[in-house]
Amino acid sequence: MAETLQTIAGSRQEQYEGLIPQIAALIEGENNLVANMANVSAALKEQFNWLWVGFYLVEDTELVLGPFQGPIACTRIRYGRGVCGSAWEAQRTLVVDDVEKFPGHIACSSLSRSEIVVPVFQHGSVVGVLDVDSEEPAHFTEIDARYLEEIVQLLFPE
Ligand code: SME
Repeated sequence: MAETLQTIAGSRQEQYEGLIPQIAALIEGENNLVANMANVSAALKEQFNWLWVGFYLVEDTELVLGPFQGPIACTRIRYGRGVCGSAWEAQRTLVVDDVEKFPGHIACSSLSRSEIVVPVFQHGSVVGVLDVDSEEPAHFTEIDARYLEEIVQLLFPE
């Protein structure tokens, strides 16, 4: 695996296009999911400097905090609760422009203004989510949804 991340300048799309091959190289040959989730969180944080980026993993009826980068976060989120539990229930990516307007949003950090949550699928079921928070309102778009879904699929091939 590569030992340093080459951070990419340019549009959001160009940043993802430069980052994704590096993420593929980073996780290639390593099948430990915790190690890979940890490095992917670090790579996304280093490239985009988002407030919080990390994973929650399904355990029975809850999501439990996994590898992440950013401030400390709540450890358990119930199915259907918050943006994370809602993305799990809906089985699709949720983009929230203003977290204060999302019913039931769980404020792990008062600095968070917008959020994207991408469900992680294995064998057709949701096994976790990738959650990203930004201090800027309406920071995430369909571009982020598309590329973050691609990154999640690299990590968790079906
Ligand atoms: N805001 C999330 C909780 C997790 S933290 O943002 C890290 C939610 O509403 O599910």
